[in-house]
Amino acid sequence: MASFVLKGHICQSLDRNHLQVRENHYLVCVEDRCAGVYPILPAKYRSLPMTDFGDRLIIPGMTDLHLHAPQFSFRGLGMDMELLDWLNTHTFPEEAKYQDRDYAEKAYSQFANHLRRSETTRACVFATVHVPATELLMEKLEQSGLVTYVGKVNMNRNSPLYLAEPSTVASVRNTRQWLEDTAGKLTHTKPILTPRFIPSCTDDLLYRLADLRAEFDIPVQSHLSENYSEIAWVKELVPTARNYGDAYRKFGLFGGDHKCIMAHCVHSDTLEMEYMRQNGVFIAHSPESNMNIASGVAPISKFLDYGLKVGLATDVAGGSHESMFRAMTHAIQASKLRWRLLDQSVAPLTFDTAFYLATRGGGAFFGDVGAFEPGWELDAVVLDDENLDHPQPLTVKERLERIAYLGDERNIHAKFADGARLF
Ligand code: GUN
Ligand code: FE
Repeated sequence: MASFVLKGHICQSLDRNHLQVRENHYLVCVEDRCAGVYPILPAKYRSLPMTDFGDRLIIPGMTDLHLHAPQFSFRGLGMDMELLDWLNTHTFPEEAKYQDRDYAEKAYSQFANHLRRSETTRACVFATVHVPATELLMEKLEQSGLVTYVGKVNMNRNSPLYLAEPSTVASVRNTRQWLEDTAGKLTHTKPILTPRFIPSCTDDLLYRLADLRAEFDIPVQSHLSENYSEIAWVKELVPTARNYGDAYRKFGLFGGDHKCIMAHCVHSDTLEMEYMRQNGVFIAHSPESNMNIASGVAPISKFLDYGLKVGLATDVAGGSHESMFRAMTHAIQASKLRWRLLDQSVAPLTFDTAFYLATRGGGAFFGDVGAFEPGWELDAVVLDDENLDHPQPLTVKERLERIAYLGDERNIHAKFADGARLF
């Protein structure tokens, strides 16, 4: 276990509305855990190894609450369709390629390398239906040093024959095999149950997955209320449910006694919000994806006001890029258009709120993660904005804002996840 001190300009979210900046402060890590932020290094920590990052910024690592590793290979392509056509035309044919271990090896290496270089330290990742490729992805993410949940996807209906699992029994068998193969094997890479969405899983599969979830005591991730056609389809498929979220709830896959992430929630109504609040469901807000495949814009300020748990996500490859800084700026921009054009009762997001969502908001899914609170797990990203030349003096907060809008992976100088330095 690592103990060390980092020095620099330390920025963190205190709450939804407050981004705190502490210039030339010391961030202390004792046995992989944060031991606080100090203006003067306390005597008891003076013997620890110290890295002085000078004029650079130090922020908590970011959590990408929802993205698809196999879709990384077609990011930036095919953005002119809505969800269901996009899945059939681009997504399913690409995901079918992960049947081939060599292809998975190549594609997942690229994915893990890019994610490692990004400002993301934690992520909740969809794989595909394929067990060997999913296990390969988990090994690659473990080697990267990132902390992740990874899900082998379940899909046994309304999916092309070349990708779908042939039956409920096969889907459950594959899932059990994956859970048994990976149980206790990896330190930073954990399984998460991943029914793709209601349209791709039969009722009996969803019930059996809920049993499996309880048996292995793992969390759940899926998609919810992303697109109008999808929502109408779910109404037909599960006519007894009061809404889409209630359909998951009916099958025992909507939080309550387990951790649960639902991606999108663009069109969730008040009743669905109430079910999410009652069950502690996390919302993975994916603004770029919601724009690219024309789903809409989720009312994030309203969700936060309602007391819902919200994090930010790239949803690669609905989103074209793995950068959480980009996700932050997209979230702000989308919220402003929504406010201006659709509904002035839902306030647009500020930079401070977007930073909160990317750090504390999503980090909470992993426990005490996403800020430099004493006792919390320590993820930190060191930012260098030397290349973003500016003619005027800037505050540290302004520098952070510029990095979010103008920067890329070249601005990531160093990175720590769960107390370990990745580079
Ligand atoms: N709904 C079901 N599958 C998917 C997917 O791969 N991406 C997105 N954005 N939504 C989905
Ligand atoms: Fe998704």
